Formats: sequence, structure tokens, C-alpha cells
Amino acid sequence: MSEIDALKDRLESLQAEALAAFAGAEDLNGLQGLRVHYLGKKGALTEVLKGVGKLAPADRPVIGKFVNQTKQALAVALDAVEAELAVKAKAARIEAERIDVTLSGRKSGSGALHPVQNGLDELTAIFSQMGFAVAEGPEIEDEFHNFDALNIPAEHPARAMHDTFFLKDLQGDDGQPMLLRTHTSPVQIRAMKRFLAESGEPPLAVVAPGRVYRCDYDVTHSPMFHQVEVFKVDRDVSLAHLKGVLQHFLSAYFEKEVAIRLRPHYFPFTEPSAEVDIGCVFCAGKGCRICKGSGWIEVLGSGMIHPNVLKSVGIDSEEFSGFAFGLGVERMVMLKKGIPDLRLFFENDVRFLSRMGVAK
Ligand code: DAH
Repeated sequence: MSEIDALKDRLESLQAEALAAFAGAEDLNGLQGLRVHYLGKKGALTEVLKGVGKLAPADRPVIGKFVNQTKQALAVALDAVEAELAVKAKAARIEAERIDVTLSGRKSGSGALHPVQNGLDELTAIFSQMGFAVAEGPEIEDEFHNFDALNIPAEHPARAMHDTFFLKDLQGDDGQPMLLRTHTSPVQIRAMKRFLAESGEPPLAVVAPGRVYRCDYDVTHSPMFHQVEVFKVDRDVSLAHLKGVLQHFLSAYFEKEVAIRLRPHYFPFTEPSAEVDIGCVFCAGKGCRICKGSGWIEVLGSGMIHPNVLKSVGIDSEEFSGFAFGLGVERMVMLKKGIPDLRLFFENDVRFLSRMGVAK
């Protein structure tokens, strides 16, 4: 066989082999590999062209034309297969990314306010609307604010009733014992002092919500619970003002007109003092298990601020008087929502929280 025929043969079989390989390419990457293999600078076609130099000069243009035809045929085939594979690749991608819009969605549960937080917010809001300013005080308190300034001197029996957590390793500014506040009443002292420093003299009306601590735990006591303290100081504040505010507040909170009664009591920081009862919200005063047949439920402690308390912050008790009361938030929420056991608030059982929680 002449040199030129042998070359033609090789080109023909190369073309047949390449076309078969292109047709079998599985993806665009594979096809790119084949393009390089057959048409690349060091590819199979280049390899064949090396033989052209051995031909007689007259044969060279003949074979040159043949080579160009082969190149052309391969390029056309490559483009066609490439287009086909691109369509396939796109279809595969769309299939992989397909979203079944008929699949029903998964519900994402939304959180809710803890019933105690909600109670705090509700109670605070009622007093805000009545014009009381919201104040807070520290939970780590000193003996002066928690006891002495509230007319509970050392050795006073009321101190024993408070089951105080003392903080052994802490001391106040002047070497005072530090403790976890046992009630929100110390905010009376702090708010009065702050207020007097800022604006001189009463009137002042404050609502102070917050956490308090007592070393006590059973069905009706938790070592941490919440109180709201409310007080007002002005000229000529009387028990009638106290009773009016209580009547309005308790009816607003329980969302119905509730009966109230003040029973004489003793608190060191008020004189006179009274415990406040409401007509039982469960039996409307007829007498039931919850009010122990009395028709009344005790809800808070109150009174006229003791002159010694006013004196401890430098308010003239001859000129000014005030009322104060303090209530337990958990107890108020239990009464409003009919929750039987205080411990439910602190166990964080999701079934309880989702039933009693309040959507924001
Ligand atoms: N601080 C009292 C306690 O925790 C509650 C209280 C009673 C607050 C009478 C007052 C009040 O402001 O006047 O037991």
C-alpha cells in the first residue's frame, strides 16, 4: 500500500473510532476528555499528521484536504453530542431539584410567655395605666434596705418570718450583711431616695415588680417567687385612696367587679396595716373548697406607710403620708387561671406551659 493510502486508512479508522467514542460519552466532562484526546495539540490527529512529512510533495495537499475533512467531521459530531448531553444534564438537574409542592408543610411551634411573666406584665400594666411609674431594685440587697429602713430593726421577730437567704461571702459598702431580698418592699426605700434626689419632693407613685427569695419550699411556697410592690406618697393620702386603688386594680385584673374587704393586720412598715381579701372568684362568695367555705380569699398585704419608713429616707411624715401594698404574683395568677399547685410554675412541664402560656 502506498504511503498516502496508508495515511488515508489511518485517518478513516481514527474517524470511525472517534465518532463511536463520542456517541458513547456519558457526560460533558467525559466528552471534553475525548475532544482533547482526538483533537488536542498532542492528540491522535496530530499524531497522524506527523506522517505527512514523509509524503511526496505532490501528495501533501491531497492528504491535507483529507485531514481537514476528518477534523471537520469530528468537530461537527462533538458539537452535536455536546448539545445532546447539555440537554440531558439540564433535565437531570431539574429532576434533582424538583420540589413536591403538594407535600404538606411541617408546623413550626411558636413560643409563648410563661404564665408568671404574663401575670407580671398584666399587673404592671394596670398600674402604669393608673399613672404609677415602674421601678426596679436589686435582687441582692443589703440589710438596711430589706429590713432596717422598713422599720424592721435587728432582733425584730418579723425578720425570723422572712426565712432569709444571707450571702455569707458578701458584705455591703459599710460592712453590712448582704442577702437575697425577701420582698419587693425595699424598692420603696430605693425609689423614694432616687426620686427625692432627682425631683425634690412627693407626690410619687411607683409600681415595682420583681423576683424575691425565701428559704422555704412546699405546695404553697417556692424559694424564688415574684412580687409586685405598689405605693404612693403625697399630701393627704388616706386609707380611702388605698381602698379605691385596690378596688379598681383587683376588678381590672380579674376582669369583673370583685368584692374586697380590708382586715386589720400587722406589718412593721405600715400603720395601720390590713390584709386584703376578695370575694371568692371560684364560688362568688357562696363558700367552696378553695375559700375554705368562707367566701373570701386573701390576696395581699397593705397599709399606710409607717412614719419611720418615710423618716428613713428623709420625708417629713407630718407633711406627707402614703399607702403601700405588696402582692404575690404566682398566687394572683393561680387565682385567675385556677392553677392548683404553685410548683407547676417552676417544673416547666411543656404540657402545662403550652396550655397556660400566652402567645405573644
Ligand atoms: N412585703 C410584704 C411581704 O412580703 C408584703 C407587703 C405587706 C407589702 C404590706 C406592703 C405592705 O407594701 O404595705 O410579706
